[in-house]
Amino acid sequence: MSLRSRNLPRRSCLAIPGSSEKMMGKGPGTNADMVFLDLEDAVAPKEKEASRARIVSAIRGHDWGNKVLCVRINDWSTKWTAYDILEVVGNAGDRLDEIMLPKVENAAQVVAADLLLRQVEIANGLPVGHIGIEAQIETARGLINVEEICEASPRLETIIFGPADFSASMEMPVLTGGVQIPDYPGDHFHYVFSKILMAGRANGLQVIDGPFLHVRDNDALREYAKRTRTLGYDGKWALHPDQVDVLNDVFSPTQEQFDKAWQILDAYNQATETDGKGAVMFGLEMIDEASRKMALKFITRGELAGRTRTPQA
Ligand code: GLV
Ligand code: MG
Repeated sequence: MSLRSRNLPRRSCLAIPGSSEKMMGKGPGTNADMVFLDLEDAVAPKEKEASRARIVSAIRGHDWGNKVLCVRINDWSTKWTAYDILEVVGNAGDRLDEIMLPKVENAAQVVAADLLLRQVEIANGLPVGHIGIEAQIETARGLINVEEICEASPRLETIIFGPADFSASMEMPVLTGGVQIPDYPGDHFHYVFSKILMAGRANGLQVIDGPFLHVRDNDALREYAKRTRTLGYDGKWALHPDQVDVLNDVFSPTQEQFDKAWQILDAYNQATETDGKGAVMFGLEMIDEASRKMALKFITRGELAGRTRTPQA
């Protein structure tokens, strides 16, 4: 299912309002790994229907290179969801990789999108399963059901945390979602981040953190993005192209980590294949099979980020 985009990097996921031809025109020239053209909260209700055709012509009219290309449709509580799928997926052609489903509350909502996509694919000559799904967890109910949501369809490629809507759903006394709250001693989203990450990983999904709303403060973005990077997330949203380079950097292994991961792998392979040992010293550390697995994750991510191994002296 959705083979092209499933394993592509999503360190930076750039939101672009589908009502703006100008902003959509700038999308291909950014360094974002993934772009989503929005029909949901960045588009005024009276512009939603007209924006479908704008999005279709932006998808068809620009060269999106190797980016993951996605359209965020409206959630199932609105009158637009099915028509967003019919009109956008029905006309966009095969360059569209995925749709993003916001405010997902249960597995049935993913299944409903899956079934409708199947019909639209057949009717429009697309391979069945071509369109992937990104699901946003941004309500209390969605978080309670995140485990069933993550296993609801083979089309699912990512699970995403939406901090702004989630803060509203939880009635948190904040007016800016997705930033640190100094009054809270610790990370008020730690449980949420971890719960979504576990559900996503258990089902082989990429796991993505949502927006950081102080769009002019890239130092604060860098600091904040390290939280989900450190937990193991694959990437984070950018609301402005200026946020993209920060995210690409934060969500890529450093050259030092990448080189060390290769050295661990070499030492482990030498130990197991040549010396017949399962655990061996690597400098001052003991490494074993689990170390190999950790090293491989760094290597895969580093290669996706374009890193190559520093030649050894
Ligand atoms: C994103 O959609 C959010 O609500 O944070
Ligand atoms: Mg939202």
